[in-house]
Amino acid sequence: MDYQRFIDEQVGEIKKEVGEGTAINALSGGVDSSVLTVLAHRAIGERLKTYFVDNALMREGEPQAVVKRFTDMGIPVRLVDSRREFLGALKGITDPEEKRHAITDTFYKNVFARLVRETGAKVLLHGTILTDIEETVAGIKRQHNILEQLGIDPEREYGYRVLEPLKTLRKDGVREVAKRLGLSEEVWNRIPFPGPALAARIVGEVTEERLNIVRRATAIVENGLADSGAFQYLAVLLSDRATGIRNNRREFGNIIVLRCIESTDARTATVTELPWSKLHHICQAVVDIPGVNRCLYDLTPKPPATVEYV
Ligand code: XMP
Repeated sequence: MDYQRFIDEQVGEIKKEVGEGTAINALSGGVDSSVLTVLAHRAIGERLKTYFVDNALMREGEPQAVVKRFTDMGIPVRLVDSRREFLGALKGITDPEEKRHAITDTFYKNVFARLVRETGAKVLLHGTILTDIEETVAGIKRQHNILEQLGIDPEREYGYRVLEPLKTLRKDGVREVAKRLGLSEEVWNRIPFPGPALAARIVGEVTEERLNIVRRATAIVENGLADSGAFQYLAVLLSDRATGIRNNRREFGNIIVLRCIESTDARTATVTELPWSKLHHICQAVVDIPGVNRCLYDLTPKPPATVEYV
């Protein structure tokens, strides 16, 4: 595929579709939404309104790092602090599907719908890729029509248009486009991170306190395994607790699971045979997190396990 031609064509198409108006998109920092943001900014400049929504479920320093990355490229990104709204929606929920639902609904029906109306944008740019469409058709993914997710009825609220400039590309194609657009390796070569973010790695209720624990564990695991060459690595907080002993006192502490897998497309996965010294080192750092007294390594392939825990 001629990726330069793809870029030129999509920039032209966005220009034509948006005309003199404005367009809106949500940036997560992942490769798809990053590529979309750069393409659209090339096409329509400041008439692109890009938002990064802080949903309280991000990794350490992630919202600020993503906004800075784009600001440094001359692309303004507005950081929207929606942490309270998401934590409120997640309060008391322990069922995994309900949790995912609460996050999707809060994002589309509340936060993003509000932004769409406030900006008056009539064109919504969405980073859907071919794999998303294929997996929706195959019933693996629940990727509804974006307008439906926003609670916007296109017939009643006439005039909204959705553009999906990346819908003919798979992940490898998006990475190639990212390179040609000048995005850093940090963006095009990063390990997968799920839409529900750290909530996909908390079994049981998502609270600020539990997010802080899994966030710290995530930073330890990501730093410790950055040179492992593995497909994906993560930390999970279980809802169970275990008795431990610290400073000669018994404590009923939290349990963190370390997961590290090999895969090509995440549909199936095997477990990485990590060196004992590495596992040991990470475990030591994880149990230094206050309130955590156990660290386990998950040896389960996919299937029957999934990569994430929620
Ligand atoms: P599972 O847990 O289903 O994950 O084995 C397979 C791959 O997909 C990622 N994942 C997601 N990615 N939105 C995403 O964009 C999601 O809701 C989501 N859930 C899981 C997961 O990290 C793994 O790479």
